[in-house]
Formats: sequence, structure tokens, C-alpha cells
Amino acid sequence: MNKTVLAAIAVIVAMLGATYLAVGTAGGIGGDGGLVNKLAVLGAVVLVIVTTFVVTKYVRQMQNDTASGKLADENWDGIGEYKNELPFGWAVIFLGSIVWAIWYFLAGYPVNSYSQIGEYNKEVTVHDVKFNEQYKNMDDETLKEMGGSIFIVQCAPCHGLQADGLGGKAADLHERISAESVKHVLMNGSSNNLLGTSMPMPDRNGLLNTNTNALITDAEIDAVSKYVAGGLKATEGADVFAGACAACHGADGKGMEMVAPNIAEMSPAMIDMVLNHGKKGAMGTMPAFTNLTEVQHKAVDAYVSSLSKK
Ligand code: HEC
Ligand code: HEC
Repeated sequence: MNKTVLAAIAVIVAMLGATYLAVGTAGGIGGDGGLVNKLAVLGAVVLVIVTTFVVTKYVRQMQNDTASGKLADENWDGIGEYKNELPFGWAVIFLGSIVWAIWYFLAGYPVNSYSQIGEYNKEVTVHDVKFNEQYKNMDDETLKEMGGSIFIVQCAPCHGLQADGLGGKAADLHERISAESVKHVLMNGSSNNLLGTSMPMPDRNGLLNTNTNALITDAEIDAVSKYVAGGLKATEGADVFAGACAACHGADGKGMEMVAPNIAEMSPAMIDMVLNHGKKGAMGTMPAFTNLTEVQHKAVDAYVSSLSKK
């Protein structure tokens, strides 16, 4: 028998042996590994045999073939080229690719704009509608519970599990606002879309204290910042607030629609705006959370509002 055929048989036996060693004990052959495992092993065996035969065929062809056929007219320094028929299968695949490319360009991806991300987004939208429908009538307790779970995942990394702001990394959500943050707003103004549209608050150069008919002073800024942070209860700073802030924020600080937000207490409306637009302030920047569904918004609102009412 030819040496190459002997070598091929040796390779087949060796690879089948290795296959048996690898999967035989795992129940692929003879064991109770199930139909899928048996089919996989069968496939491996077929692959080994076919591959070996094909390789052997080409090895023998290389050993035995001599060049034959018609030479092309061109000749490069004595090196000629045979005229070969275009392989039929290759030609079919080549033409097929051109047809497919034309289809793909005109009717496929670019025009239909199919993408996995698009499909994912569509499915998420459908799911969100279902989710909102299923949970639209939750009682307050369940809402708060859901909000708490969302908070742990989405908000706790910055605000902390206790929502205390991790020592100034983010806002302490148990209080409405810190004196430092109020001061930052008075010094720099604020344009965080807290009313849902761009309605910035002027900085100190636009804040007239009507009691003194002058721009708000450093001392007044300190006093009114503490007054607001303390929940508008103290006496110190109350006069500045009445003179410079109440016209927009209301005498009680609870805000006025389309004029100024509630700065006396944490309101669901304010939390909603912060989630929609993010927030920049004394402590840094909070990203917007536009991926939350309507129900999740309500849940987070309920949870965060409940923190400050302790
Ligand atoms: C001209 C109207 C106006 C006046 C006067 C005004 N504010 Fe505001 N204030 C606003 C508006 C509008 C916003 C919302 C800005 C935004 O979207 O970021 C705001 C926001 C704030 C915020 C930010 C709330 C938050 O959660 O970040 C604080 C704090 C605040 N004001 C305090 C004051 C104080 C204290 C005074 C008085 C010294 C004052 N404001 C005077 C209109 C006003
Ligand atoms: C990447 C960090 C980060 C994440 C995540 C984050 N926040 Fe914030 N958040 C901040 C920072 C920083 C501030 C303070 C901004 C400032 O200086 O006024 C803030 C402010 C707030 C405020 C405004 C408080 C106030 O009185 O001004 C609310 C409400 C709030 N976050 C709620 C949430 C909720 C709810 C989530 C989760 C859905 C969340 N945050 C996730 C960083 C974060």
C-alpha cells in the first residue's frame, strides 16, 4: 500500500482515538449523553475522515502531477502561464456576491436601517409599555419599594446606600439642599432645567434685595444660604429671603409654576426634572436618567420624597 495512504489511516486512527478520549467518558459515545452529544461526536468523526481524505488526495496530486495544458501567449522572462478554465463554482459565487451586494446596498441594511441595537430598542419600548401597564396602579408602599430597588442599583453608587451623599460626593437626599449648594447657586446662577424648560436663575449680579434696593451682599448670601438650607425656619436670613427671593420662589419657598422651583422641600416634580435633565452644582454633575420608564420615575420620586419626610 502507498505510504501516503498508510499515513492517512494512521492520522484517522489517532484522531478518532483522541476524540474518544476527549468525549467518550463524557457520555458522547455509548454513554447516556443524549442525542445532541452523539450527533456532535458523529460530526467530529465524519469531519476527521473527510478532512484526511481530502488532504491525502491533494498530497498525492502534488507528488504525482506534472504540468500540462495550453500555455497562454504571454511569457515573462521565460515564465509562462497555463490557460485554465474559470472554476464553475467560483464563477457562481462571484456573480452571486455581486447580486447580493446590490440587494444589500439597495434593499438591505442601509435602506431598511436594520440593526441589532434598533431591534433591541424596539423590544425595550414594547416591554416598557407592558411594564407601565402592569404596574400603573401600585399603592404607595409598593411604589416606594420599587423605587428603593432602583435606587440601590442606579443611584447608590454616587448617593450611597443611605442616600447621604457619601460625604459630599453627591447631594444628601435627606435634606432639600445644603447651604454650600445654595451659595453656589447664588454665586453662579443655575440652569438645570428644574422647571422643565430652560429657565435659568440669575447669579448675584441679577439679584436685587428690595429691602435695601441694592444687589445682594456677601453677608446676605451667607445668611440666606443658611436660611434656605435650614428649611426656611430661622429668623436670620428671613428678611433677605423676603426681599430677594420670595418674589420668584414664594414667601414659603415652595416655588411658583413656571417662575421658580420649590426650594423648601423635596418635591416629586423637582426629582423628576433632575432625573430628566441631570444636575450641575456645587458638588459636581449628576447625569440624566432618561432610560427610566414612567413607572420607574414615579417609583424613584416616591422613594426619594419619602427620605426627606423622616
Ligand atoms: C427671577 C426669579 C428668581 C429669583 C429672584 C430667585 N430665584 Fe432661585 N431660582 C429661580 C429659577 C428659575 C430657578 C431654577 C433654575 C434651574 O433650572 O436650575 C432657581 C433655582 C434656585 C435654586 C436651586 C435649587 C436646586 O435644587 O438646585 C436655589 C437654591 C435658589 N434658586 C435659591 C434662591 C435664593 C436663595 C434666592 C434669593 C437670594 C433666589 N433663588 C432668587 C428663580 C429665581
Ligand atoms: C454619577 C453620580 C450620580 C448618580 C449615579 C446619581 N446622582 Fe443624583 N446627584 C449627583 C450629584 C453630584 C448631585 C449634586 C449636584 C449638585 O451639586 O447640585 C446630585 C443631585 C441629585 C438630586 C438633587 C438634590 C438637590 O437637592 O439638589 C437628586 C434629587 C438626585 N441627585 C437624585 C438621584 C437619583 C434618584 C439617582 C438615581 C436614579 C441619582 N441621583 C443618581 C450625582 C449622582
